[in-house]
This record gives sequence, C-alpha cells and structure tokens, in this order.
Amino acid sequence: MNRIEALTLLKEYTKNEALLKHMYAVEAAMRAYAKKFSEDEEKWAVVGLLHDFDYEKFPNAPDHPLKGSEILLEKGYPEDVRRAILGHATYSGVPRDTQMAKVLYACDELCGFIMACSLVRPNKISDLQASSVKKKLKDKSFAANVNRGDISKGCEELGVPADEHIQFVIDAMKTISVELGL
Ligand SMILES: [Fe+2]
Ligand SMILES: [Fe+2]
Repeated sequence: MNRIEALTLLKEYTKNEALLKHMYAVEAAMRAYAKKFSEDEEKWAVVGLLHDFDYEKFPNAPDHPLKGSEILLEKGYPEDVRRAILGHATYSGVPRDTQMAKVLYACDELCGFIMACSLVRPNKISDLQASSVKKKLKDKSFAANVNRGDISKGCEELGVPADEHIQFVIDAMKTISVELGL
C-alpha cells in the first residue's frame, strides 16, 4: 500500500478543498486506530484517504462508492480495501465485517462533525473536548447534514463508548490541525 499513489489518485479526482480536508481527517483517524490495534497503518490510512475519492465526480448513490470501487479494482487495490470503502455506504449492501471497515464507518461522519464543531470555535480544534461535541450532537440544527444515526451506529459496531471514540478522533485530527486549517 502506497500513500503517495493514493494521494495522486485522490487529487486526480478531487479538487474541492473541503472534501480533501475531510479525506485527510479520516486518514488521520484511521492511522491512529491502526496504530492502537497494531494493524497495517499504511493500509488503513489509504482506506481513509480514498473512501470518498470518487464523490466529487460521482456524488449520487450508489455511484459513490461503486464507481470508485471499480476504479480501485482496475488499479489493483486489494479486496479488503475496496470492501471497507464500499461498507462505509450502508446502501452498498457490503457488510462491515472487518475491524478496518468498522473503524472507517465509525470515523467518517464523526470527522465531518468534529470539523464543523472546530470551525465555529475561536481556538478551533486545540481546546475542543468530547463533551462539547456530544452537546452539539444533540443540537439538531447544528451541522444538520451530518447523520447522527451513522455516528451512534458506528460507535456501537466498533464497541467503544461514544466519549472515548470522540476524544480519540479529536486527538487524531489534532495531529494534522495545520493541514486541516484548524
Ligand atoms: Fe462517502
Ligand atoms: Fe466521508
């Protein structure tokens, strides 16, 4: 698994800065979890980096992530990587049957939500706590496009308490706060 190659593919398909940042955020979370679980960091990072790489070109379900998955197949990406990416979209019908797939699903919407929470704070992500993210999750009008159901289901499937998971992802995103503009 090669991050440089994955990044080149990502940038070929994605020009939107916010979308690129979303990919970097999910990558950072995936990498941190791979480290925690003593898994293949580079592979998990690439899954995060590429999970929405086709979204700008194919924003409609189920084109995203099915079209992207076909491209990844052509490029020789392994099946577990493609299945994990397909699995983040429940409508793909591909079950999240690996730890890697579960972590991707658990981090995807949450990264978007943490990004939204950080952007409205004077000190951005630097002093963001899980408790304030949880509070914002209850405010349905805040970042209304973020699916709360996916976030809670992701925690459930992963088998981690929400507070712990949220704090873990905040800490992972903090490591690349400059790249994220936070
Ligand atoms: Fe997606
Ligand atoms: Fe995503």
